[in-house]
Amino acid sequence: MTHTIRTDLPASTVDPFSDDVLEDPSGFHAALRDAGPVVYLSAHGVYAMARHEQVHAALRDWQGFQSGAGVGLSNFRHEKPWRPPSLLLEADPPGHDAPRRVLSGLLDLRALRRLREGWRDVAEQLVDTVLAAGTEFDAVPALAEAFPLRVFPDAVGIPAAGRENLLPYGSHLFNVFGPANERVAEGAERAPALQAWVTAQCQRDQLAEGGFGAQIWAAADRGEITPEQAPLVVRSLLSAGVDTTVQGIAAALHAFATHPRQWQRLREQPGLARIAFDEAVRWASPVQTFFRTATADVRIGDVVIPDGEKILMFLGAANRDPRRWSDPDVFDLSRDPSGHVGFGFGLHQCVGQHVARLEAECLLTALAARVRTIEIAGPTRRRLNNTMRAWGALPMRVTTA
Ligand code: HEM
Repeated sequence: MTHTIRTDLPASTVDPFSDDVLEDPSGFHAALRDAGPVVYLSAHGVYAMARHEQVHAALRDWQGFQSGAGVGLSNFRHEKPWRPPSLLLEADPPGHDAPRRVLSGLLDLRALRRLREGWRDVAEQLVDTVLAAGTEFDAVPALAEAFPLRVFPDAVGIPAAGRENLLPYGSHLFNVFGPANERVAEGAERAPALQAWVTAQCQRDQLAEGGFGAQIWAAADRGEITPEQAPLVVRSLLSAGVDTTVQGIAAALHAFATHPRQWQRLREQPGLARIAFDEAVRWASPVQTFFRTATADVRIGDVVIPDGEKILMFLGAANRDPRRWSDPDVFDLSRDPSGHVGFGFGLHQCVGQHVARLEAECLLTALAARVRTIEIAGPTRRRLNNTMRAWGALPMRVTTA
C-alpha cells in the first residue's frame, strides 16, 4: 500500500520498532508527546498518539477507531491475517460482544475467589524453594516465569505436556503486531508448529473439567457462543494471558529492586500488593503499543486522520505523560495509578486483568513476608519484542527476613 506523505502535521522519521527504541523508548516517547497530540510516523506510514488524553479518548472511541482491521500494523482490510483473528482483541461489536461476555463472566473478581487460596500456597512454596537454593537468582525464570507458568495453564486446564511452547508462542504473537522485521523473521520458522500446538490445546477433549477452557465449551453448549467460536476463545487465554503476566510480574520485581523504600512500604503494608502491581503496570507498561484503524475521516484537534489509516497507540508513553501524572518516572506506592492504560481502556480493556492482579498479589505477598531487601545483582538484559517491554534476565540478590 502507498501512503500520502503528510507534511501538515508533526512527523517523526524514527522507527518505533528499532532495537534502539525498544531498548530504551523514554526519549522517543517524550519527543512524540511533545511533538503534538497526533504525529505522523513516516517509517511505517502510520499515525501515532502518545499523550494520555488522546490515547485514553481513542481507546474509548471504538466506533471511530476500530480493532476489527487488526491491532497490529497489518491492515486486515488489505492483508490476510497470519492466523484466524482473535474473536475479542481483533473484533468489533456486535461480533466482539458474546465472546467478551463469556470471558468477563469467567474471569471476574468473584469467579476468581476459588483460585486464591491454591495460588497463594503455590506462591509460598515457590518462594521457599527459590530461597532455599540461594539468595542470588535470575528473577525472570525463577519467579516471573515460574509462577504464572505453573498456575495459569492449570487454571485453563490444558495438559502438562508442551507448556514450554506458551512463551515462544506469545513472544512471536506480540512481535507480529509490529512490522515484518528481523524479530518476526526469527520466530517465523517455529510459528506454524507453535500455532498448531496451541490450536490443539483449545479442543474440548484436551481441557480438564472445571478449568476456564472447559467452562468456555460449556458456554457454547448453552448457546452463548457457537461451537466454532469456543476454541478461539480458549486461544485468547493462551495467547494473551501468559507472556503479559510474566512481564508484568518481572516489571514489578524490577521496580522494587530499584526502589528499595517502596519495598519496605510493601513489607509494612502487604495489603498494598495489588496497587503496587497496577503502579508497576503503569510505570513499565509490559504491553507498550497497539494499533487501531480509523473507520472514517477522524478529526483530532487540527488533524484529520483519513478513513482506513492505522494509528499506533503508545500506551507506555501515555502512562508516563507528565500532562497526566506527577513525577511519572517514579514508581510510587502512594500514587493512585487508576486511569493508566497499561491494561487498555474501554471496550477492549483487558478482560484478564483480575487474573494478572491475583497472580501478582499472591507472589508479591509471599515474597514480602520472606524477603527483607531486594536489589539488582548484575547486568540486566532486555528481551526485545515489537509490542512487549520484556525482561530477558534480572539478576537479583535478596536478604531474607
Ligand atoms: C500484566 C498482564 C497483562 C497486561 C499488561 C495486559 C494488557 C492488555 C491490554 C493493553 C489489552 C487491550 C488491547 C486493546 O485495547 O487492543 C488487553 C486485552 C486483553 N487481554 Fe490482557 N493483559 C494482561 C493479562 C492478561 C491475562 C492474564 C489474560 C487472560 C486471562 C488476558 C487476556 C486479554 C484478552 C482476551 C484481551 C482482549 C479483550 C478484548 O478485546 O475485549 N490479559 N490486555
